[in-house]
Amino acid sequence: MKRLLITIDGPSGAGKTTVSRRLAERLGYTYVDTGALYRAVALIALSEGCAPDDDTRLAEICRHLVLRFENSSKGPRLYATCLPVGMDGDDITERIRTPEIAMFASAVSARSVVREYLLGVQREMGKGGCVIFEGRDMGTVVFPKADIKFYLDADLDTRALRRYEELAARHAGAGLAEVREAMKKRDEDDSGRAIAPLRPANDAIRIDSMCLEIEQVVEAILLHIRAQAK
Ligand code: DC
Repeated sequence: MKRLLITIDGPSGAGKTTVSRRLAERLGYTYVDTGALYRAVALIALSEGCAPDDDTRLAEICRHLVLRFENSSKGPRLYATCLPVGMDGDDITERIRTPEIAMFASAVSARSVVREYLLGVQREMGKGGCVIFEGRDMGTVVFPKADIKFYLDADLDTRALRRYEELAARHAGAGLAEVREAMKKRDEDDSGRAIAPLRPANDAIRIDSMCLEIEQVVEAILLHIRAQAK
């Protein structure tokens, strides 16, 4: 089988993470959650009191930042080094999973200094293939020549309910209406920004996950991948 580079884009709550992880397991591929990279920048900016549009300070953070994924039995973990803020290989996997960091990540992701820095990081991770990249602009900007591109979507209510149940399972406590509003705002910001907005690549295979179980989405994607890999 060819060493493919696969991209999966789509809005939050469309099921990209679970689908990408399962696909990576089935194919023996590496999985890269690019949203986590934006969340890492957001975590540092927030903890340093840096405004999400302060390009000078964001550039400074990015200049010193080294991000590394490592696989563990509990899934991929993200480690960050940024010596000026006292981070030296810190495991930030859990710390980046808060609604506040999600909103801040969306805000810093609209800044070109951040996108340019992460563009290089992501392309480096894609060298050699056998990778599944999950994000917003994987098929449009970061890997326009990816071997196969998917765009996973579902209506806002379905996605909000999924995210609400996920947060409830972690006792994160936000109400459904609050989760839905935050998701709507983030989608609008991610789709409406000037640089690398969320949108399907022209050559992406679009899958609506609203009426499908996760495993059905995985199977549908695998069919396309196997056809492509022949
Ligand atoms: O996938 P996520 O929810 O962890 O992403 C957090 C934010 O990061 C998202 O709201 C927009 C931004 N992001 C992006 O702009 N481009 C990507 N490839 C991935 C995430």
